[in-house]
Formats: sequence, C-alpha cells, structure tokens
Amino acid sequence: MGKNKLQKFEDMTGYPHVFQYPFSVLQEKGFEMKGRWNELFFKNNHPIVLELGCGKGEYTVGLAQLFPDKNFIGIDIKGARMWSGAKLALENQLSNVAFLRTHIELINHFFAPGEVSEIWITFPDPQMAKVNKRMTSTRFMKLYREILNDKGLIHLKTDSNFMFTYTGEMIKANHFPVLVETNDLYNSNLADEILSIQTYYEQQWLDRGLNIKYIRFICEPSETYIEPEVEIEQDPYRSFNRSKRSEKK
Ligand SMILES: C[S@@+](CC[C@H](N)C(=O)[O-])C[C@H]1O[C@@H](n2cnc3c(N)ncnc32)[C@H](O)[C@@H]1O
Repeated sequence: MGKNKLQKFEDMTGYPHVFQYPFSVLQEKGFEMKGRWNELFFKNNHPIVLELGCGKGEYTVGLAQLFPDKNFIGIDIKGARMWSGAKLALENQLSNVAFLRTHIELINHFFAPGEVSEIWITFPDPQMAKVNKRMTSTRFMKLYREILNDKGLIHLKTDSNFMFTYTGEMIKANHFPVLVETNDLYNSNLADEILSIQTYYEQQWLDRGLNIKYIRFICEPSETYIEPEVEIEQDPYRSFNRSKRSEKK
C-alpha cells in the first residue's frame, strides 16, 4: 500500500535535499542559503535550473539525470506530490537535485539576483479568471527577472490553449525573443529526450487527446512589463472558476 500524506511529510523532514519553507518559517528565520545554494548545498559552480509548480518533479529529476553538470530545484507548495520526486532523486543518488516547498510568489526570498539560469514551468493551472495568479503573467515575469541571470531563459510546457495563447501575447507585448515554439509537440520534430519527459499532469492530458504546447523564450529586463490586452478563448474542458477543483486531480 502507498504511503499516506503524513508518512510522506514525515519522510521528507529527514531528506537532506528537501527544504520546507512556509511563510511563517521564512519570516522567523529567513533563508540562509539565498545566494549560496551552490556554495552550501550543491558544492559546485554549476548553473541552477528551477521547475516551478513541479508537482512530482518529473522534470527536475529527468533533467538532472540528463544534465549532471547543472543543478535542479523543484518548487511546489504541495509536499505530498513533491515526495515522489524527492524519493526518486534519493534512490538514484542524484546529488544535483533539491526540492523547495514554498509559494512561488516568495521565490525572491530564496534566490539572489542572477542566481538562477533557467526556469521551467510545467503544466501550470491556466488561472483563466485571475491574471495575477497566472504563472506567465507580467507579475511573475517581474519576480523571475529578479532572480534570473542575463540569459533569462524560460520554458513553458502546457496542455492549455488559453495559457499558451496568453503567454504568446505576453511575450509579444514585451518583445521577448522566442527561441522555440510548437503548439503540437509530439507531431513536430522537437520532441527530443528533454521535451519528451512527461509529467503526471501531461500524461492525463495526453490520455484525453490534447496537444501539448511548448515555448522557450527569454525574459528580458525591463523597467515595466506590459500586460497584453486581448480576449482569449477559454479552454472548453476546464471550468472558468474551478481552478481549485482541477488542482486536486
Ligand atoms: C497542475 S499542477 C502541475 C504539476 C506538475 N508540474 C505536472 O505537470 O504534473 C500545478 C502545480 O503547481 C503548484 N502550484 C500552483 N500554484 C502554486 C504557487 N503559487 N506556489 C507553489 N506551487 C504552486 C500546485 O501545487 C501543483 O502541484
């Protein structure tokens, strides 16, 4: 029988590569590794790559196996999901993996300016009703830009036509360079060993026959970011106001 949530939380308290920082803990103690992840944890000088809203951390672990010369940190607020990836990293003795349990909104409390070289956003809830909660909105670009290095590389993989269209419009409004883009990954010639890593949510959407979309772009520095003003068609398979419910799947 699988472990229940409490057992998973219990396990993770003993994991050396899992850092759990709800806001209360952050307020009380601050985060001692901010700007010093490589010095204090990874013990090397390799680039740091984040997976935001990592869930079970398939990209964090999968990329870490493909790229031993980069360091990967999966971030999510849900600990029970993260446990799967954390356990796998431990079993595979991956020394280039860490997990951080916190809200993405607090990310600049955990990383210093320029400390991060790439960000992956994998199958985020499109937050069709709330632009401020959308993980590719300009509110988040501003946050990501604070911690990203000069390259400012961001990857988005999504099932959601709404999220993909919105992100494209946000990129256009801010004149960000797009490096790679497809609205049907598995019917393109782009599905290499990196983009073929499949997450838990991705598998559910593939089972439902949805196309997987991918875009890689550069979040360039700017004094202000411009929110696109466009009407975007809702994803018909999601309820506009039920993001909380769809999160639980
Ligand atoms: C739809 S799931 C996708 C999970 C995983 N990337 C996958 O593809 O299977 C979205 C994930 O983002 C996390 N999440 C959403 N908003 C968050 C926030 N503000 N801070 C931290 N995690 C968040 C949720 O807990 C959830 O695990």
